[in-house]
Amino acid sequence: MSKSKKPWGGRFRESTDQQVEEFTASIHFDKRLFRYDIEGSIAHCRMLARKRIVTAAESKKIIAGLREIGRDMEEGTFSFQADCEDIHMAVEKALIKRVGEAGGKLHTGRSRNDQVSLDVRLYLRSEVRGIRKMLGAFMGTLTAAARRELDTILPGYTHLQRAQPVLLAHYLLAFREMLRRDSERLEECLARINVMPLGSAALAGTGIPVDREYVARLLKFPGISRNSMDAVSDRDFIAEFIFDAALLMMHLSRFCEDLIIWSSDEFGFAEISDAFTTGSSIMPQKKNPDVAELIRGKTGRIYGNLVTLLTVLKALPMTYNRDLQEDKEPLFDTVDTVKASLSVLDAMVKKVRWNRKRMREAATEGYATATDLAECLVKKGVPFREAHGIVGRLVAYAIEKGVLLGDLDLDEMRRFYPAADEGIYRCLDVEHSLRARAGVGGTSRQSVLARLKEIDDEKAS
Ligand code: ARG
Repeated sequence: MSKSKKPWGGRFRESTDQQVEEFTASIHFDKRLFRYDIEGSIAHCRMLARKRIVTAAESKKIIAGLREIGRDMEEGTFSFQADCEDIHMAVEKALIKRVGEAGGKLHTGRSRNDQVSLDVRLYLRSEVRGIRKMLGAFMGTLTAAARRELDTILPGYTHLQRAQPVLLAHYLLAFREMLRRDSERLEECLARINVMPLGSAALAGTGIPVDREYVARLLKFPGISRNSMDAVSDRDFIAEFIFDAALLMMHLSRFCEDLIIWSSDEFGFAEISDAFTTGSSIMPQKKNPDVAELIRGKTGRIYGNLVTLLTVLKALPMTYNRDLQEDKEPLFDTVDTVKASLSVLDAMVKKVRWNRKRMREAATEGYATATDLAECLVKKGVPFREAHGIVGRLVAYAIEKGVLLGDLDLDEMRRFYPAADEGIYRCLDVEHSLRARAGVGGTSRQSVLARLKEIDDEKAS
């Protein structure tokens, strides 16, 4: 006689050890899939009725029961118990309790192995669409800020050393480009998420004459999986999503890194509003960029999630193995983290004050236009390598003297470049430097405006 109370308890003589019950349960985290579990089950049931595998009356009962359970879960009145193992069993058990025998027919032609894949695909499809919307909003914030900062000049950096003057608008649009790629990647990922696996059953498909295409149509999937063994063990779409999220977080993290540096007294390029900073418990003067730091920190966690999942997958024998249950916590954590980070960063950036004066000072007080001077000599016929050497020696001389290049008089200039005339000073002007970079993708006002126009046109089309 079976002692187990499990739906699968038929062949068991002993009931499950309490520790095992807790160790194997996923209900405490996969309960967040309940909406999708119910949506998928309703579609499956409608298909069973259409194929006359259950009667119309049974299907009506089952669907009403599922809707009721969904409502209770939505309202938080459903009591989730660990002995239900996972969300799929919790729903099924509750259904049988509510509608009786008919409830026991729902799982016909289905296994939790294809069911869990379906649920996660429905969940992730909806989340990815949401994340893409948030990305679009943040891109809009960056574009709007870029439009306001078309005349803000700051030094661009390489190796965190002042390199060449750029427009703040150009800098902000650089991040917009990264986010645009992130959004494209997620859209491509969506195509692989959006595949309907039901009908694969445990691993080999089902002997019950199910209509997979019909279920796919009901759930708005453009296609169905083509191999049942692959379908129940495939988590590529989750790994791919987490990778896309990791790259996206890396972009946010780099933006935050700059914000952190820029809001230091040493830079003073940006001021994060009080509402988005925190104080120190000991140093009364401090205003810390904790939000930006946490986004940077959380990026590390998302990398961890990616490695977790890839490691879970790497040595699994075909097909389904319970290890696969370990896909959910890294996935949920990634979704939550990306959404929270995007939301708070968007709000924070809207209120950042860019210190235009300080940026311009930094762009003019160094040697950021040395390359422009070299390029001027090139235009006069000096080979670039030679021009580079001349200007390099000029810079060394100016540094030693403790002045800027523009402070050197013509005689001094001629010591290094005998053909120097008054025109040389124009080459050192930051405005001139920016104007000169007028090619596609350059930092001139004209080039940045052209990019903004393209962005407008993309939105309009
Ligand atoms: N909770 C399980 C998971 O997340 C559902 C599938 C369980 N299947 C099984 N044969 N034990 O992977």
